[in-house]
Parts: sequence; C-alpha cells; structure tokens
Amino acid sequence: MTAMNCQSIVVKLLAFSDVHESGYDGIDPSGHDVVLIAGDLQGYACCSGTKPSPERIARQVKFINEKFLPWCNKYPGVQFVVVAGNNDEFALDPANPLKALPSGSNVHYLQDGLVEIKGLRIWGSPWVKPKNHRVGGLKPFERKADDFKKVFAQMPEDIDILVTHATPEVPDSYIAGRPENNYGSKALREIIEAKQPTVCVCGHIHAREHQPVFLGQTIVMNVSRIHNDRCRASYRPRAFTMAKDASGVWCCQYDEADDLKIRTKGETR
Ligand SMILES: [Fe+2]
Repeated sequence: MTAMNCQSIVVKLLAFSDVHESGYDGIDPSGHDVVLIAGDLQGYACCSGTKPSPERIARQVKFINEKFLPWCNKYPGVQFVVVAGNNDEFALDPANPLKALPSGSNVHYLQDGLVEIKGLRIWGSPWVKPKNHRVGGLKPFERKADDFKKVFAQMPEDIDILVTHATPEVPDSYIAGRPENNYGSKALREIIEAKQPTVCVCGHIHAREHQPVFLGQTIVMNVSRIHNDRCRASYRPRAFTMAKDASGVWCCQYDEADDLKIRTKGETR
C-alpha cells in the first residue's frame, strides 16, 4: 500500500512521554489533531525516595492544575490523551485533576480506558514493571511481578493506538549500557503480539533516543523525552500521521531520520 491510497481520513499526531516536570512547555502542538502523552509528566528531579508523601502529591496536583492544564487549554483545537506513569503521584490522589475534567474537555485521561477521537480508538494504561535496581517500595502503578496480563487483557481487540507507560520487551528496552537488563514488559509484548494495535506509544525506559520498532504488525514507539542521566528534555517528540483508506484500514506514517517511512498494518517489513 502506498501513501496515495491512504488519504481519505488523515489524523496528525504528536507523541511524547517522560518529561519529568520539564520539557513539555517547549512543545508547540499547533497543527496536530491529537497529542499522546505516555506518562511521567512528574517526578524524578524532585522525587527522592520511592514512597509518595502528601507534600509531593499536593505539589504535583498543583502542577497539573496550574501549569499542565493551562498549557493544554492554550490549544483548544488539539485533543490531549494522557496516561499516568510510575512517577505521577498526583494520579493516586482522590483529587487527581485529570479525573475530574468536564465532558467536552480537550484533555482525556486514560487509566485502563478508551477514547475515540476522529475515528481512532485509543486505549491507555499506566502499569509498569519496576526497574529492579531500585531500592525501596513500589511507586504508583508498579507491580512486583510482570503480571500485567489481566490488566492489559482488558484492552479490546480493535484498538488503533495503545498508549502505555510501560515499554513492551523489545531489543532496546534496556537501560544505558546494560542490554542484559531488559526492563521491557514481557506481558505487554505478548498482549501486543496477540491483539496487534496499529501503533503502541510508550515510555518508561529512557536511555537513548529510541527508534520505532515492530512487534508483528504493530509499530512500537518509545517516545521518552529525557535521558536517564540528564533530567531535562533531550529528545524530540515524535510526529506521525494515521490515515485511513477507502477500505477502512488505518496506516501509520512517520518520519525517521528525515526519511518518510510508510508502514501499513498487514505489511511485512
Ligand atoms: Fe520516566
């Protein structure tokens, strides 16, 4: 399939994750229809220790109310889809501002849930396997074992875009210099292989500028913005388009190293 017969509906998307308090406000999403945020808006720089404290949660809630939501509201023509990450302690709070948004808001918070935008069925889930080099207790949405099959299995079969904080187990889901320590989720990989969404946007592992990879027919994009060793935005958000042809098949087109790659669901590499 070529780009020529994928043009009947075109949705422009921008995806990023793991800004960890910085790095989103330099992004101008104008001209995009949908922004996908795959977790870890917060934490890291201010996050000493693993146990959430009331003060840290209150500070994060304030950040979401006073910085993040006003930033989203500057772009009323853009739909924002947000999944929490394991540093997003605000998401645990009963007053999580993203759960209390009015209907009609352009911000959609997904915690094992679905939203449909411009015909795209988008599912989001925050769960991750902890990095086992961490000492101390579990952070939000972490589970000791990689036993996410039950939660990820809630995802319907006909999802076009899966947004997860976890990265599925792929060859480069390891942290710097240690390929033997793969922190990608095997359970998530198996769900993706079984259900084959067109795209999976993810984060959590941020050791380099990760390039899109394939799991069967699914394009996996780890869109983390920071590098482990530098607590600031280091990598660009990833822009891509989803286009639907006359037969109803979505295809994903993305820019890789200034070379437009076109991948269609069902296409072999
Ligand atoms: Fe992160």
